[in-house]
Amino acid sequence: MSVGVVCPGSFDPITLGHLDVIERAAARFDRVVVAVLDNPRKSALFTADERIAMIEAETAALDNVEVDRFEGLLVDLCRDRGIGIICKGLRAVSDFEYELQMAQMNQRIGGVETIFLSTAPEHSYLSSSLVKEVARYGGPIDGTVPAAVAAALVAKLGG
Ligand code: PNS
Repeated sequence: MSVGVVCPGSFDPITLGHLDVIERAAARFDRVVVAVLDNPRKSALFTADERIAMIEAETAALDNVEVDRFEGLLVDLCRDRGIGIICKGLRAVSDFEYELQMAQMNQRIGGVETIFLSTAPEHSYLSSSLVKEVARYGGPIDGTVPAAVAAALVAKLGG
């Protein structure tokens, strides 16, 4: 039996923490769909096309990973792709409360299960928002995002 998972997120932009979770999911499941939320009501630094292009470039070597965009409910994307498992990274206990709520809601409204991979300790402090804040003020972001993403951040934000 082939088992696929969806790794969802805003990925604005993808960090090394996201990439680690995607790579570990790809090593354990037959198919990984990275689902990029394209939410017109949420202002993102990078367009959905830019975010998708960055993820595609970083996951190009992983044959079982594909990148998809979605608007609306994640469970609808799961249903359309025929995947019944969401896979997410958990950084800390502070993530857990909201993640648990989302997992329970997605189970209820779509019958979709959520599994969590513990984030690698070296990435547990990382978030796209913090990386953008550091980049915005010209701080060092090496080791937080892939090199090409760091270059895109600098190009977008200066620094
Ligand atoms: O990277 P993020 O912003 O933490 O990702 C959050 C995301 C995209 C996984 C979450 O906001 C989501 O699934 N949004 C889609 C809307 C949805 O399905 N909401 C109900 C979930 S309970």
